[in-house]
Amino acid sequence: MRSARAGIFCAGILFAAFAASPARAVEPAPASENEAVKRGAYIFHAAGCKACHTDIKKKGPPLAGGRAIGTPFGVFFGPNITPDPVTGIGEWSDGDFIRALRSGVSPDGDHYYPVFPYTSFTKMTDRDMLDLKAYIFSLPPVNKPNRPHEVNFPFGFRFLLGFWKMLHFTPGTFKPDPVKSAELNRGTYLAKALGHCAECHSPRTMTGGLDLSKWMAGTVDGPDGETIPNVTPHKATGIGEWDLVDIELALETGIKPDGDVLGSLMGEVIDETTSHLTPADRRAIALYLKSLAPIDNRVEVEDENRD
Ligand code: HEC
Ligand code: HEC
Repeated sequence: MRSARAGIFCAGILFAAFAASPARAVEPAPASENEAVKRGAYIFHAAGCKACHTDIKKKGPPLAGGRAIGTPFGVFFGPNITPDPVTGIGEWSDGDFIRALRSGVSPDGDHYYPVFPYTSFTKMTDRDMLDLKAYIFSLPPVNKPNRPHEVNFPFGFRFLLGFWKMLHFTPGTFKPDPVKSAELNRGTYLAKALGHCAECHSPRTMTGGLDLSKWMAGTVDGPDGETIPNVTPHKATGIGEWDLVDIELALETGIKPDGDVLGSLMGEVIDETTSHLTPADRRAIALYLKSLAPIDNRVEVEDENRD
């Protein structure tokens, strides 16, 4: 087992070395491994894994541990998910990785806090999860111990998360809707399983679950206390006046139809996620937003929200 992991690990190093220098002396990893790493890099961006697991503001090493994420339940720090065997996830099997994303359960059997949006990632296909793991394991390991979360009483008891999951978590892979076009299914998968747009754009109930009756309708109580706009096609309170091209352009460049530039948390999503997607995938997401039920919910995004 250990040697198999070491093998993957070495292949990762080899790939990193190969990617860094085009020197022909370095043997490339087998084609299939390369293919998985390449697909995984795309999934990695589409799912926005870097944002919470990297201390971007302090220019911390990629995935070696994140910035503080403020929630009503406490302050959380994305752990080190580099392939470091001691402080990262270098010893994890494929099964461990799939279980964490699909079920929100650690290799030791503990429940994860839903600030790790496995509530969305659970919808990813096995293939996407495994390619994502291949990519993460191709990155350099960083030895950096995790910073403990600062969780308010009584949320420090992880077993309580079992009750939370019973209320708010439905594990399972995304099922395409045969009635909808392939493009709309793709957009739905990108937005719900990967981009986890609703984790910010939907309000939450008292117990911290997503309020499904206000799906993507905005909230004044988003992550870090930010106000998040309504992106349903409601004409007066959402983005009903935007056409597909407006949405695609905003997701690519951050420029809104009125010429303003999207900033704060969405600025990061655009930099890290939506600007890296293919134009076809951005269009699929735009189509998904257009397909949502228009919900009348006015949230005013204040200017100090932006930087
Ligand atoms: C919104 C912030 C956020 C995003 C986005 C995010 N994570 Fe996390 N992740 C966390 C937090 C916080 C934890 C710790 C949860 C806990 O301690 O219960 C975590 C935990 C993990 C763990 C468990 C690590 C361990 O040591 O047990 C893995 C693996 C992981 N995330 C991988 C990913 C991957 C892969 C992605 C992209 C698909 C991702 N995360 C996206 C915040 C995030
Ligand atoms: C980490 C939180 C977060 C995530 C995840 C997120 N957004 Fe946003 N989004 C915001 C914030 C905050 C704003 C407002 C930014 C501003 O006005 O400067 C915003 C603004 C927008 C806007 C512009 C709306 C308007 O009226 O100006 C669109 C469109 C949008 N998001 C779509 C998406 C899509 C699609 C996804 C998923 C791929 C997504 N967002 C994921 C936080 C988020």
